[in-house]
Amino acid sequence: MTAVFPATTVQTQIPVIGQGTWHIDSGGRRAAVQALRRGLDLGMTHVDTAEMYGDAEEIVGEAIDGRRDEVFLVSKVLPENASRRGTVLACERSLERLRTDRLDCYLLHWRGRYPLEDTFDAFERLRRDGKILSWGVSNFDVSDLDEASKAGGAGRIACNQVLYHLRERAIEHAVLPWCERHGVALVGYTPFGTGRFPGPGTRGGAVLAEIASAHDATPRQLALGFLARRPSTFVIPKAASVEHVAENAGAGDLRLSPAEIRRIDEAFPRGSRPRSLPTL
Ligand SMILES: NC(=O)c1ccc[n+]([C@@H]2O[C@H](COP(=O)([O-])OP(=O)(O)OC[C@H]3O[C@@H](n4cnc5c(N)ncnc54)[C@H](OP(=O)(O)O)[C@@H]3O)[C@@H](O)[C@H]2O)c1
Repeated sequence: MTAVFPATTVQTQIPVIGQGTWHIDSGGRRAAVQALRRGLDLGMTHVDTAEMYGDAEEIVGEAIDGRRDEVFLVSKVLPENASRRGTVLACERSLERLRTDRLDCYLLHWRGRYPLEDTFDAFERLRRDGKILSWGVSNFDVSDLDEASKAGGAGRIACNQVLYHLRERAIEHAVLPWCERHGVALVGYTPFGTGRFPGPGTRGGAVLAEIASAHDATPRQLALGFLARRPSTFVIPKAASVEHVAENAGAGDLRLSPAEIRRIDEAFPRGSRPRSLPTL
């Protein structure tokens, strides 16, 4: 299943289930390349990486070699590099590691000491030069988003990438509604909660297993389907093996009924609104 990044600068169909790449080489580089390529074969062509992720950009570069046009490629600049000049240089280094001439979307990984205006000016320069096709932010709370939209201009922010999994639904209180009101895609990272996925012996895990079996699906597929249930939400699970990739890709066509969504919502309540945005 695909959806549109709603920002005026993107307007392209993007798979709602993508591929993350942090620690993508946990099973070795060869397995990582194979896993990413299998993901592309299965339609998970939204690939998320970052200059921060060690050699992940190089691995992605190898995996997408010869297939660049199939991919919606996202990378991120570290806050300490996000000055006007530093952002441009960081992007050029990422392009080289990724063996490509352009990113589909370039994100500020989280807010740092440089004014947003400086980073966004650099993003716009990169966009004019064709080195990036759109840009966005990550780990931005509502107050950051308000500032960012003033600094960047209406319709410019393509997405906000934030922590989002069944046991961490804080973004649903205000960040997700803000993104929906302003046409900004919400990309959920760490959708399995890195090692904290609800097991079958837990109450929530049992609910997932029951609904999953009715769809001939797995609990993880159900979790991805739930997190990507709204029209402008996307998820980017990371999987270093072809088996895991195939399972995750299988979530793409899952449609949950309102009653099923209600049951998952009750099993994993969103809780009260936290004072600050949770991040990894
Ligand atoms: N913007 C940010 O600040 C930020 C922060 C964190 C992450 N991210 C992005 O989001 C991506 C995903 O987050 P994440 O890597 O933290 O965590 P995650 O995707 O929630 O979880 C990854 C873990 O789940 C396992 N897994 C994946 N598919 C599975 C399956 N079908 N069955 C069983 N286990 C499975 C993986 O194992 P294997 O690897 O062994 O397959 C890995 O141990 C990152 O890779 C990165 O691209 C962004």
